[in-house]
This record gives sequence, C-alpha cells and structure tokens, in this order.
Amino acid sequence: MITDHRPWSEDPLRAPLGAETMLSTGELDFLHWLGKSQYSGTGRVVELGSFLGGSTLALCHGLSQNPAWTQPLLAYDRFVMFNDQEGRYTHIAAPGESFLPAFRRNIRAFSDRVTTRPMSIPAPTPGVDHTEALFPEREPIEILFIDAAKTWPVHITILDVFGPRLIPGKSIVIQQDFKWATVFYLPLHMYQLRECFEPAFDIPDGASTAFRYLGNINRHLGTLWQPTDFDIAGANAVWDAIDQYWGEHARGDLIHIMRLLRAQHLASLGDLDQALSVIESAIAAAIRDDASLALEAVRYASSGLRKNSDAMSNSERLIALEHTAAASIDALRSVRQGAAVRALLGRIDRAPNAPRPTAFLFGAGQIARRILALDKAKLPFKPLAVIDDHAPLEDIAGVPVIRPSDLAPHAGADLLVIASDAHADALEQRARAIFPGNTPIVRFDRPAPVAHHA
Ligand SMILES: C[S@@+](CC[C@H](N)C(=O)[O-])C[C@H]1O[C@@H](n2cnc3c(N)ncnc32)[C@H](O)[C@@H]1O
Repeated sequence: MITDHRPWSEDPLRAPLGAETMLSTGELDFLHWLGKSQYSGTGRVVELGSFLGGSTLALCHGLSQNPAWTQPLLAYDRFVMFNDQEGRYTHIAAPGESFLPAFRRNIRAFSDRVTTRPMSIPAPTPGVDHTEALFPEREPIEILFIDAAKTWPVHITILDVFGPRLIPGKSIVIQQDFKWATVFYLPLHMYQLRECFEPAFDIPDGASTAFRYLGNINRHLGTLWQPTDFDIAGANAVWDAIDQYWGEHARGDLIHIMRLLRAQHLASLGDLDQALSVIESAIAAAIRDDASLALEAVRYASSGLRKNSDAMSNSERLIALEHTAAASIDALRSVRQGAAVRALLGRIDRAPNAPRPTAFLFGAGQIARRILALDKAKLPFKPLAVIDDHAPLEDIAGVPVIRPSDLAPHAGADLLVIASDAHADALEQRARAIFPGNTPIVRFDRPAPVAHHA
C-alpha cells in the first residue's frame, strides 16, 4: 500500500533547478531525495526522456550529495523539439530542431557525471534485440526514470531492454506518465507485471508513480499486452481488475485517474459512448473525493476526445463534461484557498497588547487577494507590500505589489508571509533568497516561528 508518508517533502530540493521542466515541484523533490538518500550505488541511474534537463538536474543535485554515486547517469532523449500545441518552447528550438545544445548548457555543472544518449527509442522490431543499440553496457540499473514511453510500442521496447537489468528487491522504476490523462497502456502493463513490481511511491502533485522491482520480469517479456490483444469485453475485464488492484494499493487521485484511463482505452477501441458513461461516473466520484488532479485529467481528456470525435451528440456530452470538470475544479480550488487563508492567519499568534508585526507577502495570486480583501486593521500583521517576480498589478487593495528589485536597500519586515498554497515551496525559496537572514517565514501548512520586531 502506498502511504501518505512523503519523506521527500521534508528535505526538498533547495538549489535553483537550472532548467525549464515539465515536472511538478513534488516530482523534482522526489527525484532529488531518491538520488540523495535512497540510491545505494548497486546499479546505474538511467533516465529516459531528459528534455531540457529538469529531471536530470533534480537527480544530479541529489546524487551529488551521495558518496555512492560513482558511475555517470545515462540520459536518453531524441533531443528533437516536438510539436507543442501551446508553443511553450519555441524560444528554445523550433519543432524539428535539436534542443541538445540547451540540454548540454543546462546540465554543464554535471557534464562529467552525465552520459548523454541522443537517440530515439524505437518500437519493437520482430527478430531484433534493441539492447545492443540502446544499452550496450547491460549493467544493473538501480534507478530507472521513464518519461519517454509516449507510445504503447515504445513502452514495450523500454521494458524489453531495460527491464532485465533491474535489481530484484532494490531497483526503483518511476513511471512519469502513470497518471497522465491519456497514457492508458502504462497501468495495463504495470498491472500485467504486478508480480514483478510493487507500488512504492505516488507523487500527489504530479503524474508520477514509482514502483519497486521484485523480480521475474523475463517471464513476461514477449507476451506483454499489445493494442490488438483487447476487445471491449476484454478491456473492461482487465480494467475491473485494475480498479480493484489500485483500490487495495493507493488512495486519492490515482484511483480516479485509473477509471478515466479505462475510458481512454474504450475510446481507442471505438466505443466512445461507453467511454463517456465511464467518465461521467468517474467525474462524480472525483468531485465527491476532492480529487482535483483527476478532474484536471477529465478536462484534458474530454477536450482531446472532442477533437477526435465527429458525432454531434458525443461532442455535446464532451463539452458538458469539460464544463463540469472545470467548474468543479474552480469550486474545489476556492474552498482550498479559503482554508489556506484561514490556516495562514491562524498561524500568527500575538500577545493581546503587542504591536502588530509588519509583513511582506510573497505571491500576488488569489491567496494574497483574499487576505487583503479582509479588514486590514484586523489582520494579525501589517502588510507592507506584496512581493512577486512578475508584479502583475500595481497594488492589491491599496497594498503595493513590487518586484524584489524594487525593494529599498536594507528593507525588512518582522514576517515573510507565503501567500500561496500550490506554490508554497517555490515562494519560500524565493523569500529566503531575497531575505537571507532569519526573518520568520509563515506558511499555511506549518506552525509559524515567533516574530522578532525589526
Ligand atoms: C515530457 S518530456 C520529458 C520531460 C523531462 N523529464 C523534464 O524534466 O522536463 C518527454 C521527452 O521524451 C522524449 N521522447 C519521447 N519519445 C521518445 C523516444 N521514443 N525516444 C527518445 N526520446 C523520446 C522527448 O523528446 C521529450 O524530450
């Protein structure tokens, strides 16, 4: 059973990462923690899908603090820019261009400890063993980070080539796309391989789930499920079993996302009607359980299905699903932010006649707005300014919003209040970098240290 214990959040990655990344803060902290305190040096660290080096750097920052790290990390990617619909990376390379120079620049601090493998992991080819081309070392692997299994056949090649090198009872395999809204073959294969892998860690703010290797993968290679192995009845039977399996091994978003992935599988088999019914009941359960990652996944998956669907009636159902998911996400977020504001204000204790401490708020988002919309005379601190790298507004309810560079030299406050729930870690790092002394930092999720009046 995956527990709620998350040791990586107690020792987060504090160094600036040094690369743009698609991973969440929790995923980066997890990789850092894995490298720093779990890696024993019995095998290689292999990363499939490095992109600009975000995951590489998170691993390296951790590994470099671990004396057991002696062999270079192997970083695989085709390093060719994909067609990103939102155009988020055009400043790095145009679609079809290499981003290898950017990767090399980003990881330069670790260049002698990373072996870069610019290659495309192919689909299986009958009669061909891809091991010689992909992993000629054939050495034991202790950490296998998989973020390149973007198609069903490529996942089979990855398991065929790297699976037999895992160390029974020791290796950790991170499936970065395990809870991604559309990648349903990962849970299918990991269920098929349930005697070989046990669920070990789940990262709640990202799509990653990690497994510990138990052994015996060779028994299954060659018979791993392929798309043509399923009809609707067969798919439903396997997803019933997967539902039950994860009900016994995890909680929260993961279970809801597995239900959504069943729908994706059914849609890929041509039964969009049944797929939509599955999503409609999954969404109701996700709302009930406050599973916002699952609702995000519903929204993303519905819009993907809508683009591929031409039947008008389905299109209306899909639009309704997208809207329900979006409205539920907004409602849940609002409830959560309200709770974070109450918690944050409740953290600041003050003796009845003591003067109010002064405070800088970090982050000009919803939480800062909610706090500053309250009666300022009744706040447990006197807000001096909101500090935000982007300073999107001039002021919030009369309190100036400034960039760190706008601060007067030697500016100070009694407290640094982190006005965010979702980005509290990142904002805390920024606050400490800007005020390196020991001004107390107040977060919604931690008891506040005592303020010393400046
Ligand atoms: C989601 S990105 C990885 C994100 C990265 N781990 C990070 O920290 O931001 C997926 C990467 O996998 C690579 N990729 C996808 N399919 C691949 C394949 N078959 N062989 C090699 N690389 C592949 C892509 O080029 C892309 O850089």
